[in-house]
Amino acid sequence: SDPIRVGLLGLGTVGQGVVRVLQRNAEEIARRAGRPIVISRASARDPNKARDCDLSQVAIEADPMRVVTADDVDLVVELIGGETPAFVLIGEAIRRGKPVVTANKALVAERGNELFELARGAGTMIAYEAAVAGGIPIIKSIREGLAANRVLSVVGIINGTCNYILTQMSLRGIDFGTALTEAQQLGYAEADPTFDVEGVDAAHKLTILASIAFGIPLAFERVACEGIARIQSQDIELAKALGYRIKHLGVAKRGMDGVELRVQPTLIADDQLLAKVDGVLNAIVVHGDAVGRTGYYGRGAGGEATASAVIADLVDAVRSLDTPPQHRVPYLAFQPDAIAPMEVLPL
Ligand code: HSE
Repeated sequence: SDPIRVGLLGLGTVGQGVVRVLQRNAEEIARRAGRPIVISRASARDPNKARDCDLSQVAIEADPMRVVTADDVDLVVELIGGETPAFVLIGEAIRRGKPVVTANKALVAERGNELFELARGAGTMIAYEAAVAGGIPIIKSIREGLAANRVLSVVGIINGTCNYILTQMSLRGIDFGTALTEAQQLGYAEADPTFDVEGVDAAHKLTILASIAFGIPLAFERVACEGIARIQSQDIELAKALGYRIKHLGVAKRGMDGVELRVQPTLIADDQLLAKVDGVLNAIVVHGDAVGRTGYYGRGAGGEATASAVIADLVDAVRSLDTPPQHRVPYLAFQPDAIAPMEVLPL
């Protein structure tokens, strides 16, 4: 059948990864989606820059809005990040009834409630697996895999940059600044690395995870947030001597009156699973009342790992194009009629 034509906004590390993986695994992906998926257009700030992928069949625009509105674009993938102009671009795609796949955690966490409302009204979808923990399919796992459970807690290492820094400080005894520079050079850190080291990036991801796990609206402003900038080598050494590791965790817990959301450096005993997760890797432990504790582990950042999650959403979106809205996977993080919302506890 006819290919689905994707408009790709942003040709950075993840965008190039999406192009490569879509081309390399075209056959498998087409089989799973029921139709071939091709990129017809892409936008980039500098259209002429050399890139690590084959763009010979792709029309490159400097203006992302031209991609969103193009007649030969059926579906939009947003990989620009940040709030402006991503919100406007996604809003326009939705108004045109084009499904959207995004990796933009800041936008989903802070303005997702509005975007989901728009998508609901337009009868289309916005999918964001890649926004949390890169390639780990944690949103699908909680939403579909654990659908039977009352989720009791979600605890995880969800910022690769923080985990890289803490790991290198611990293993090599280097200081915070040196480790951060390395993480930036490796391409893990956000454009503004204070988002990583002050916990904002983890708070964005935790907000999204909690909305899926507990059926609460996105409540970024209710996350108690502490980063790792104050951790010193001697804290790490002291923790080690006592049999602990310091990890930067996101924690969402169901309590008597509601859900508690926290992002903070935490002491974890050496023999615990999360204590052993090193480097840029992410890991999340979800506790469900029926299943018990389940763990998810993998690359939380990087081009092709994140592309893996983007393309999985693309496959879902393509499949659902021929499915009436009521039979689709419930993409909206928060469905007010489906789940009784819990309170998010005040800070
Ligand atoms: N800056 C993020 C991290 C990238 O370090 O985890 C993936 O969201």
